[in-house]
Amino acid sequence: MEQKRILCVGLVCLDIINVVDKFPEEDTDTRCVSQRWQRGGNASNSCTVLSLLGAPCAFMGSLAAGPIADFIVGDFSRRGVDISGVAWQQCGVTPCACCIVCQKSGSRTVVLYDINLPDVCADDFSQLDLSQYRWIHFEGRNADEQVKMIEQVKSYNATQEEKNRITISVEIEKTRPSLYQLFPHGDVVFVSKDVALHFGFQSASSAVKGFYSQVKDGAVLICAWAEKGADAMGPDGTVVHSDAFPPEKLVDTLGAGDTFNASVIYTLSNGGSLQEALTFGCQIAGKKCGVHGYDGILQ
Ligand SMILES: Nc1ncnc2c1ncn2[C@@H]1O[C@H](COP(=O)(O)OP(=O)(O)OP(=O)(O)O)[C@@H](O)[C@H]1O
Ligand SMILES: *[C@@H]1O[C@H](CO)[C@@H](O)[C@H](O)[C@H]1NC(C)=O
Ligand SMILES: *[C@@H]1O[C@H](CO)[C@@H](O)[C@H](O)[C@H]1NC(C)=O
Ligand SMILES: *[C@@H]1O[C@H](CO)[C@@H](O)[C@H](O)[C@H]1NC(C)=O
Repeated sequence: MEQKRILCVGLVCLDIINVVDKFPEEDTDTRCVSQRWQRGGNASNSCTVLSLLGAPCAFMGSLAAGPIADFIVGDFSRRGVDISGVAWQQCGVTPCACCIVCQKSGSRTVVLYDINLPDVCADDFSQLDLSQYRWIHFEGRNADEQVKMIEQVKSYNATQEEKNRITISVEIEKTRPSLYQLFPHGDVVFVSKDVALHFGFQSASSAVKGFYSQVKDGAVLICAWAEKGADAMGPDGTVVHSDAFPPEKLVDTLGAGDTFNASVIYTLSNGGSLQEALTFGCQIAGKKCGVHGYDGILQ
């Protein structure tokens, strides 16, 4: 039997990436070292990593027809990501991000143009054939609608025997109060360093301890903390930690978080332990920080 897919719901955009030696001064002309177009967006990047890891995966998000969407569709297909669930919008433009990756520091600075393309809604989601999926990851965006989507999965689960049920993960990345309603809706919840700092937590371990009361019974809560690695807590209440695995030379951290999450989901969905998932997540994310783009993260 063919393995069911992991579906990631969220944003896809075009990233125009400028690699520079030194971060430019405002209002100056400089040359960059290299420039490339890359399919971006957090959920879309996680799909790239899942497909590199060999997990059948699918993307659901919005696109508006046009040259940017053509580029994006071509790249999804090159990576073997199923996009039959994409919601083609009649109005709005496909988002585009200009990124400056600074070689010296490995920093990435992003300016996103994302104004008027409607997000996927619960009606779009109800068109999916849920029997194709074993895991659905939500990048927290239009949380009101996403909660309705998760309710649909819950109803689906209720009609299925254990082995066919779908696991849900959610990612709470932005300090936007509407996103906090997602905490009790994931079997696996990723919370960002940004959100943790916003609530006054100074480390990944204090964040997972502090937020754990918000998640549902039996859930796993995970917080990544850049070069400090990542921590997690499961139902037994012990904090699990992995250090980061810094590459020899830091060249591009853009998408390190997405790589981490995809690698964690990959491990957990294959029955790995929380410790194995965190360690693998940090290893692959560390590899990613040492290469441009995603090719080479498994070497
Ligand atoms: N400077 C670094 N050195 C080594 N590992 C790193 C570094 N930055 C990130 N990582 C790895 O990536 C994981 C995810 O980090 P984090 O969540 O901070 O990334 P992020 O800022 O969300 O990335 P992005 O937004 O570009 O996807 C960390 O747990 C760590 O394993
Ligand atoms: C679906 O079932 C799985 C496996 O039993 C469970 O972990 C998960 O919480 C359920 N998901 C929802 C949204 O109810
Ligand atoms: C991945 O999870 C981390 C927290 O562990 C979060 O900072 C980041 O935004 C997540 N990214 C995606 C694409 O889910
Ligand atoms: C993707 O996630 C990162 C953090 O993991 C965040 O900085 C970035 O803004 C997110 N991108 C979008 C388009 O939401």
